[in-house]
Amino acid sequence: MSQLSNPSWPVILGVSGASGLIYAVRALKFLLQADYAVELVASRATYQVWQAEQNVRMPPEPIQQEEFWRQQAKAEGGKLICHPPTDLGASIASGSFRTLGMVVIPCSMSTVGKLAAGLSSDLLERAADVQLKEGRKLILVPRETPFSLVHLRNLTALAEAGARIVPAIPAWYHHPQSIEDLVDFVIARALDQLQIDCVPLQRWQGHT
Ligand SMILES: Cc1cc2nc3c(=O)[nH]c(=O)nc-3n(C[C@H](O)[C@H](O)[C@H](O)COP(=O)(O)O)c2cc1C
Repeated sequence: MSQLSNPSWPVILGVSGASGLIYAVRALKFLLQADYAVELVASRATYQVWQAEQNVRMPPEPIQQEEFWRQQAKAEGGKLICHPPTDLGASIASGSFRTLGMVVIPCSMSTVGKLAAGLSSDLLERAADVQLKEGRKLILVPRETPFSLVHLRNLTALAEAGARIVPAIPAWYHHPQSIEDLVDFVIARALDQLQIDCVPLQRWQGHT
């Protein structure tokens, strides 16, 4: 389905409680550096993952969260609005609020399961469900291994409904030198799905 789109519309960044918050942090960094407007919603489970992975406490209040995410991303540009996951009346809960699409990164299997079942029990799920119903881009970056048959069936159902599944699986042909290089490969491929090219990446040019 072709749709009008405007580069000033925001990108929704959904952060769920899967391992790999570094994916969300670096995606945010590149989007803000490139001057995109970002509407961020992190699920309740993310608080525990922040503690486990970084030993830091994510503040619950939106204003403090904006500062927190900017500090984590070391990014000053762009525009960032953080939403509490409980705020089902937020702008991004409505199909009339226009966006460039949504990336859920990292995406837990719980969120995958709820989206596949059409559940919208928090703002992240509602915003993702809205992208699907409006025929907009929904990019899911699942992080789990191994996948159960339930996970695979849920991912298939979402792909059939129009979501793009971009698993957190880096490649090696660009000669990564650091963890950031591996992470950035995944982010670049996820943002490629939104036609957003803001991650410096050594792309494959074919054999020369
Ligand atoms: C430290 C930590 C790491 C986790 N990593 C994963 C993961 O990689 N993938 C996953 O699907 N769930 C993972 N979980 C479990 C989810 O956080 C849990 O299923 C939660 O209910 C997800 O909720 P959400 O989808 O609303 O964010 C992890 C939990 C913790 C505490």
